[in-house]
Amino acid sequence: MAEKLKMHSPDLVMSNIEKIAELFPNCVTEAAGSDGQLTRKIDFDLLRQELSDELVEGPLERYHLNWPGKREAMLAANAPIAKTLRPCREESVDFDTTKNLFIEGDNLEALKLLQETFLGKVKMIYIDPPYNTGNDFVYQDDFSEHADDYLLRSNQHGINHGRLVANTESNGRFHSDWLSMLRPRLQRARPLLTQDGAIFVSCDEGEHPRLRLLMDEIFGQSNFIADFVWAAGKKNDSRLVSVSHEYIVCYAKSAEHLREKQITWRQRKKGLDEIYSEFKKLSAAHKNNHAAITQALKQWFRQLPDGHPSKANKHYSHVDSRGIYFPDNISWPGGGGPKYEVLHPATKKPVKVPSRGWMTSDPKKLQSWIDDDRVHFGPDETQVPCIKSYLVDRELQTPYSVFYQDGRAASKRLRTLMDGDLFDFPKDELVIQELVEMVTSGDDLIVDFFAGSSTTAHSILLQNAKCEG
Ligand SMILES: C[S@@+](CC[C@H](N)C(=O)[O-])C[C@H]1O[C@@H](n2cnc3c(N)ncnc32)[C@H](O)[C@@H]1O
Repeated sequence: MAEKLKMHSPDLVMSNIEKIAELFPNCVTEAAGSDGQLTRKIDFDLLRQELSDELVEGPLERYHLNWPGKREAMLAANAPIAKTLRPCREESVDFDTTKNLFIEGDNLEALKLLQETFLGKVKMIYIDPPYNTGNDFVYQDDFSEHADDYLLRSNQHGINHGRLVANTESNGRFHSDWLSMLRPRLQRARPLLTQDGAIFVSCDEGEHPRLRLLMDEIFGQSNFIADFVWAAGKKNDSRLVSVSHEYIVCYAKSAEHLREKQITWRQRKKGLDEIYSEFKKLSAAHKNNHAAITQALKQWFRQLPDGHPSKANKHYSHVDSRGIYFPDNISWPGGGGPKYEVLHPATKKPVKVPSRGWMTSDPKKLQSWIDDDRVHFGPDETQVPCIKSYLVDRELQTPYSVFYQDGRAASKRLRTLMDGDLFDFPKDELVIQELVEMVTSGDDLIVDFFAGSSTTAHSILLQNAKCEG
């Protein structure tokens, strides 16, 4: 799908000058450009004076990430382009009404063209850039040189009209080329994010150390949120250690903003649908006999194999007229809470009081919970009662940074869907869907600029379907 868009990328150098001018108007001057015309320029000597003691210059050692080609990569990010997005009506679906946009082309150019329209509008970016395994291809961004000349000069093989070159390990610029490829793209991607937005970048152990440093540089160390570790199953292809995980590195646009606004990320617990479906079956089989349903549900949890996603919720095995619940602690957090008499509903004798005291200092409040059938009592007064914690109210959890998802399952599904192996190493749409669910809602915009087989689009489709029905 494509949108009717006709635009040229903004001149980022000029916009940087505007920003400096806002802070230090006295540092803006006029000088002749290469064409002899007078233009606005920054008086660097004055700016240096303004910043005086805080400048690091010359040979002074400093902590930073550097590589041959970094300067060019920064220039590539800022260089304006005079290109246009052309709509493809004939290839599109619901062209006039769609809210989706699929752009074919070099992603740096596309990011430049999206800069103004989508500035500060994207809630989530997920990317899966080439892992730099030596076999992937890295775009050659030296547009001043014709690609064929470049390939001839660098003695590398080109594919796809000479726009991609193999980044083999024998190439002395192995890591540098990868960093030079990714840096301008990340630099152009960051301004697209909303203040409460976040970016997720897949990588393996090969480039993980450099990716983290690069992300620190572009997004700021203080905006690092987490390295998700995706355990993808045994490989058994190594003599020493079988590395069976990869990473999804996550940075916020502004961690401070997330903190200030008390924004929380949540995920639906796994295996809930199976529990609800079993509960439905058991309810039908045992009519409204809650004790019998509870017994059967406990038995069902017991026979589940270890590692089954529902098993992590096995404590939710009690049932009443409201549904499935877990008898939770009813005592005062930390201890020292109030102690007063509460009668057992069947024996009418005072029940054992929790050693830390009741969770509410108001006996009337506790009695109202009892009257509302929200307190779980033991068979007699000798057991401390519990508060009922219902599964429907506890479906969400804070996402864990370590998770398991079979690394081959997505390839199998895509093979079936496309009737063949058309894409190498597609990501798992269910994993990306969980990230989408965690960070976005409603009409939020999501961008993937290393689309491959369009796994991210697939995951959004699944999430939209889930929300609708
Ligand atoms: C590792 S794959 C992404 C796979 C994808 N996540 C999936 O699940 O299928 C990286 C993709 O980015 C594309 N790519 C690499 N450099 C690019 C560039 N400069 N512009 C646009 N796409 C690029 C590659 O062709 C490849 O499809």
